[in-house]
Amino acid sequence: MEITTNIILGDCAEELISLKKNSIDLIVTSPPYANQRSNSYGGIHPDKYVEWFLPITKELLRVLKPTGTFILNIKERVLNGERHTYVIELILEMRKQGWLWTEEFMWHKKNCYPGKWPNRFRDSWERLLQFNKNRNFKMNQESVMIPMGNWSNGRLKNLSETDKLRDKSKVGSGFGKNVSN
Ligand SMILES: C[S@@+](CC[C@H](N)C(=O)[O-])C[C@H]1O[C@@H](n2cnc3c(N)ncnc32)[C@H](O)[C@@H]1O
Repeated sequence: MEITTNIILGDCAEELISLKKNSIDLIVTSPPYANQRSNSYGGIHPDKYVEWFLPITKELLRVLKPTGTFILNIKERVLNGERHTYVIELILEMRKQGWLWTEEFMWHKKNCYPGKWPNRFRDSWERLLQFNKNRNFKMNQESVMIPMGNWSNGRLKNLSETDKLRDKSKVGSGFGKNVSN
């Protein structure tokens, strides 16, 4: 299979317009950390972040294939001693755009330096938010499966009633079944 790389330099809000609708399988992005790096690449005040980013997520929704996935690497900054709520607000607004907030992963940053704050732990993880256009998105689970550890011998032998229940219902995933959008 020949792999070609096409790097498009520019403002994503403008460049996305040239992409066809339903043409992209996977989108992964790490947008600006609000105004935390304003010295290096400018920034957006947390209070303005959702307003700035929504036109971009609208375009991403248009270009993503119905079976595609959008992974958003983002972490709310601390403002006046509090984590700002712009990421949570963004998720809620993106759902109004038609996005499904399907899952959340964590990027564990093992090399981040400690001691930035007197009364906080170091900022050693970031959110990876997964969004989809519908529940029948493609996922190649087999390629990321890892063998279960020996712990499973004992664990699976003594399944509780709830465990058995969980197994039957395949809670929330629509695993292998066509679920309505
Ligand atoms: C958090 S950094 C991520 C950079 C890169 N993914 C990395 O890991 O090094 C955010 C990047 O978004 C770029 N950026 C900011 N506004 C942009 C826009 N409207 N369109 C495209 N890129 C933008 C910034 O220049 C910066 O490099």
